[in-house]
Amino acid sequence: TQVALIGVPTDVGASRLGAAMGPDALRVAQLGSALAHLGVQAHDIGNLAGPPNPRGERDDAGMRNLAECLAWNQITHDAVWQALQQGRLPIMLGGDHVLATGSISAVARHCRAKGQRLRVLWLDAHSDCNTPDNSPSGNMHGMPVASLCGLGPRALAEMSGQLPALPASAFCQIGLRSVDAYEKHMIRELGLEVYDMRAIDELGMREVMRRALADLGPDDHLHLSFDVDFLDPEIAPGTGTPVRGGPNYREAQLCMEMIADTGRLGSLDIVELNPALDLRNQTAELVVDLVQSLFGQSTLVRP
Ligand code: ARG
Ligand code: MN
Ligand code: MN
Ligand code: MN
Repeated sequence: TQVALIGVPTDVGASRLGAAMGPDALRVAQLGSALAHLGVQAHDIGNLAGPPNPRGERDDAGMRNLAECLAWNQITHDAVWQALQQGRLPIMLGGDHVLATGSISAVARHCRAKGQRLRVLWLDAHSDCNTPDNSPSGNMHGMPVASLCGLGPRALAEMSGQLPALPASAFCQIGLRSVDAYEKHMIRELGLEVYDMRAIDELGMREVMRRALADLGPDDHLHLSFDVDFLDPEIAPGTGTPVRGGPNYREAQLCMEMIADTGRLGSLDIVELNPALDLRNQTAELVVDLVQSLFGQSTLVRP
């Protein structure tokens, strides 16, 4: 596999500053050579250049920094599309989760062109399916799932060239434990497949992942959108909206290993890493560790 590392230093979708330093924290934690150890060639294309964070107030439609979020998403979309055209597996080094509209819209466009079915695994403490009028915060990183499902501002919703970019049934969300009142309603309305922390407690991570990956076909494209706040804050403090009670180290490893076993990973977002809140880069190092499992690192030779 050839991988493209795409730095997306944005925090325009978040309320706390710092996620823009995420790409460099991942480089300092040696993501590139960790992949090289596994025989995965990683081309680091560097950081995309986008607008700075104006720290704006909510506009009349309820959004903060819409123009900047649009710009970052368009730049991300173009870079991901280009990497996929070159036959490379794009890895977004985020950056806040707003960038997922840009990346996943490009993946959806790629899959449409190739006749591939797309499955999106969304590992997150949050559902990120707020719409501008119902978001409690106006922060755009809480809205990408809604955009991808065709809701909210047209310029974001139509980025893939089709509305919606993908069917809501393509998503599977895992690890949720902070869902806003209106999002609960949205999850039902859209029919999103969700395994919240209670499901993980009751079924175990193994069964949750088995179900999440059960209908994945041999030609499908699997996109992983990995929000670092999916992880328990005790092991991953470097993130802007931490929520207690997340998956522990072993559960997170199993999750990545089971995705690796499918052999279908086609693209990856690593988002919401905030080095300003981290302790000696431990969250970035943990993420690199998990990404190694995602690319096939295992203790034993596997059949
Ligand atoms: N639901 C909250 C909001 O809309 C928090 C979203 C956090 N999203 C994230 N990608 N970390 O503001
Ligand atoms: Mn989150
Ligand atoms: Mn593909
Ligand atoms: Mn998120």
